[in-house]
Amino acid sequence: MILSDHRPNPLRDPQDRRLPRIAGPCVLVIFGVTGDLATKKLMPAVYDLANRGLLPPGFALVGFARRDWEHQDFAQIVHNAVKENARTPFREEVWQQLSEGIRFVSGQIGDDESFATLKSTIADLDEARGTGGNHAFYLSIPPGLFPTVVGQLRDHGLAEEQQGRWSRVVIEKPFGHDLASARELNRVVSSVFPSSSVFRIDHYLGKETVQNMMALRFANQLFEPVWNNNYVDHVQITMAEDIGIGGRAGYFDGIGIARDVIQNHLLQLLALTAMEEPTSFEARQLRAEKQKVLAAVRPPKRMDLHTARGRYVGGWQGGEKVAGYLEEKGIPADTKTETYAAIRVDIENRRWAGVPFYLRTGKRLARRVTEIALGFKRAPHLPFTATDTEELGYNALVLRIQPDEGVTLRFGAKVPGTQMEIREVNMDFAYGGSFTESSPEAYERLILDVLLGDPPLFPQHEEVELSWQILDPILDFWAASDDRPSDYDAGSWGPRSADEMIARDGHTWRRP
Ligand SMILES: NC(=O)c1ccc[n+]([C@@H]2O[C@H](COP(=O)([O-])OP(=O)(O)OC[C@H]3O[C@@H](n4cnc5c(N)ncnc54)[C@H](OP(=O)(O)O)[C@@H]3O)[C@@H](O)[C@H]2O)c1
Repeated sequence: MILSDHRPNPLRDPQDRRLPRIAGPCVLVIFGVTGDLATKKLMPAVYDLANRGLLPPGFALVGFARRDWEHQDFAQIVHNAVKENARTPFREEVWQQLSEGIRFVSGQIGDDESFATLKSTIADLDEARGTGGNHAFYLSIPPGLFPTVVGQLRDHGLAEEQQGRWSRVVIEKPFGHDLASARELNRVVSSVFPSSSVFRIDHYLGKETVQNMMALRFANQLFEPVWNNNYVDHVQITMAEDIGIGGRAGYFDGIGIARDVIQNHLLQLLALTAMEEPTSFEARQLRAEKQKVLAAVRPPKRMDLHTARGRYVGGWQGGEKVAGYLEEKGIPADTKTETYAAIRVDIENRRWAGVPFYLRTGKRLARRVTEIALGFKRAPHLPFTATDTEELGYNALVLRIQPDEGVTLRFGAKVPGTQMEIREVNMDFAYGGSFTESSPEAYERLILDVLLGDPPLFPQHEEVELSWQILDPILDFWAASDDRPSDYDAGSWGPRSADEMIARDGHTWRRP
């Protein structure tokens, strides 16, 4: 009797997922191509895709920004950006083929003439490169300009999808700055593009280790039985940066880290940690589960007790003297913007009732690290003396997202010797140690998915709205308060108020 047959069945699985997925011919237009994101991430990702053979010969790239550049200037800039920031080695023949399809349009987002030039540039490329009239528009520009670009694309007939051609729009975060503005932006975008053509970027979802969470949870039998409030005591989700705001004062101040990180990355990580198993990884199913769990998240019950915010002050970090937030260039003296935020939320469903989820994020913290840690309940009975288990904490499963991607299981083990002394040890899985292939950059995966029209890794508007519904009451509470964010030292793990917040529940923050 055959108990199981894992050979691929061409009828059941018409697409062999091991074959590389290659994008079809198209034009990718990047608005804001001279900016930080495009230079450091987007253009290198396009090159890496070309280098991996995942872009077709009929691919073209158009950059749009205000600078007065010619096509050749732009090609040189892309060349430099790629050489400096690409993940894969530079190969002249790949570059040659890519550079033949590179163009630049100099113009203002609000200017009709610039869009007429853009339209004719795209039309020329459609003809020369045989793109089939397929276009993706990547909005890597200040968020205030999103509605204007979308309106311009409509007015210049660039959003139309006819006779099998597609037109997609890719929107960078942040999607709105509160629930009302997110709804308004969505109203504008959805009046021009159908929802299947809108790709909202949360680059965390493009990271291999985030996707590995789904493999860990749903491809194994080992974890599911303990993945609930019978065994899990609390969950800590951390995204810590060791850098300050850099030159991005204009963007950061007024937005703050809760809007910049909690609303999107951390709540998406929470959703993937806490959601039920989707019936498949098809976009609709996956989103349905994420939405369901986000709808069950309750904002903190006591804003004063279950939230904390802070702001870094200058000092020494990693042997270097660093400025405090208020000394950073372009920051107004009376700012109330936070550079650290921690919140406790609860999920009101059968699986998670009674398990607090602690989310924290901050700049200029002790280390750059992103992780999800499930802390387990203590054994109900310990047949040891109290001194035997003095150094035994709680069991933990830690999903490390960056850097050192991997999974750690922490549990108690006997210290060798004649005494029964129990101490915590770690069992480690590191991506780098188990797989020879290096992980693609998140933006490679996401840009390829846009060109393929494959949406599971892009949050839909409902998820964005639900996230704002969780965050808005916290932001309102902070805005109404006369208090300023509490100070914390650069290179520390955040303000004392955050330690006090979690200590009220009898926990401490992990020091990863
Ligand atoms: N940087 C990151 O790491 C990062 C991470 C996540 C999300 N994002 C998001 O990505 C987007 C871009 O961020 P960024 O950091 O790259 O910003 P940035 O460095 O300030 O670049 C903004 C770009 O927009 C162009 N631009 C500004 N106003 C324009 C106008 N009126 N007409 C035409 N072009 C205009 C600028 O070019 P010219 O000045 O040459 O015109 C520049 O290319 C933002 O939505 C941001 O929230 C950025």
